Amino acid sequence: MSMLDVLANHHTVMMPDEYKHRFVEEMRERVSDIKRAYGEKLFIPGHHYQKDEVIQFADVTGDSLQLAQLATDNQKAEYIVFCGVHFMAETADMLSKQHQQVLLPDMRAGCSMADMANKKQTDRAWEHLTSLFGETILPLTYVNSTAEIKAFVGRHGGSTVTSSNAKKVLEWAFTRKERILFLPDQHLGRNTAFDLGVPLEQMAVWDQIEETLITDQPLDHIKVILWKGHCSVHEKFTMKNIEETRKRDLDIQILVHPECTHEVVRASDLSGSTKFIIDTIEQAPAGSKWAIGTEMNLVKRIKGRHSDKHIESLNPDMCPCLTMNRIDLPHLLWTLESIEKGEPVGSIQVHEDITKEALLALNNMLHLK
Ligand code: 13P
Ligand code: SF4
Repeated sequence: MSMLDVLANHHTVMMPDEYKHRFVEEMRERVSDIKRAYGEKLFIPGHHYQKDEVIQFADVTGDSLQLAQLATDNQKAEYIVFCGVHFMAETADMLSKQHQQVLLPDMRAGCSMADMANKKQTDRAWEHLTSLFGETILPLTYVNSTAEIKAFVGRHGGSTVTSSNAKKVLEWAFTRKERILFLPDQHLGRNTAFDLGVPLEQMAVWDQIEETLITDQPLDHIKVILWKGHCSVHEKFTMKNIEETRKRDLDIQILVHPECTHEVVRASDLSGSTKFIIDTIEQAPAGSKWAIGTEMNLVKRIKGRHSDKHIESLNPDMCPCLTMNRIDLPHLLWTLESIEKGEPVGSIQVHEDITKEALLALNNMLHLK
């Protein structure tokens, strides 16, 4: 479901205003008490981009791949209060068991990239692309996509990918078909295919608004078709940021997320998922200097944990991911109190027909060891 669909749904309940006026200390105590009372019946996964005020209560933190795996592994929790964005909660719902209920503390916590591909657009694209390339295409989708898009991919034999396993999944895809359609993030698709040796000329872009394939190459040269989507947070890291950082400090190393543009990733020293970024800094020697190109909450947290290293954001004017930030302490408490009252709010329930096909794509990814 896209965020527009979620917000158009009249049953979407918003947090009452009184939560905005509660004292922070009191809210923290209430969250701790409820967590203690529910024990293993309540599970709170938190994505690395969540605010500290939420992360402090997460039972586990992780990147998208780890959180998907945890949703499959946890059998005990009755309630999974997912601190992340809508597509992650949908994935958790599809991978969890029948007796488990997934709740998202704020229904407005979407992902603008995930909303750049919808069912109608993918159906049209598939019709057009298969008329050009026949049966030679395998679709892959970044997990940052709606359950409907995952179902489209599952239906056509493809797989989901995350930023930590994209290379492995693309390699698998090329053993099955000649071409890949990569949704919805053109940058992760381009960066990964390039790392695997596919030259830029062999990649075309599908413009889902104009319904055209952008390339100046003969069609039989095309190996990868990139959906024209992007992350508005990561596109804000630019070549100018890299040039200024390097000019200011020759020793600094630049580490970015692969949702950044291809030129930024190529001009950086290293790139990888949020887990890769965290691990790299953990293993770096004291005194080393890093400019990091990813979401602000994570950069700040890494900086706070490593006072022996110099850490800065690659873009000093960077904003956090606004949708991730919608989950805050009041929304977390509101959700936990709704469980206590026996009237859980923010329930994420993907339709069973969509779940069935989307699971084909998710399982293709999860079974690739
Ligand atoms: P990770 O899979 O690296 O955690 O990234 C998720 C995401 O949304 C990055 O913008
Ligand atoms: Fe989506 Fe970008 Fe936010 Fe990640 S950082 S959740 S891709 S908008």
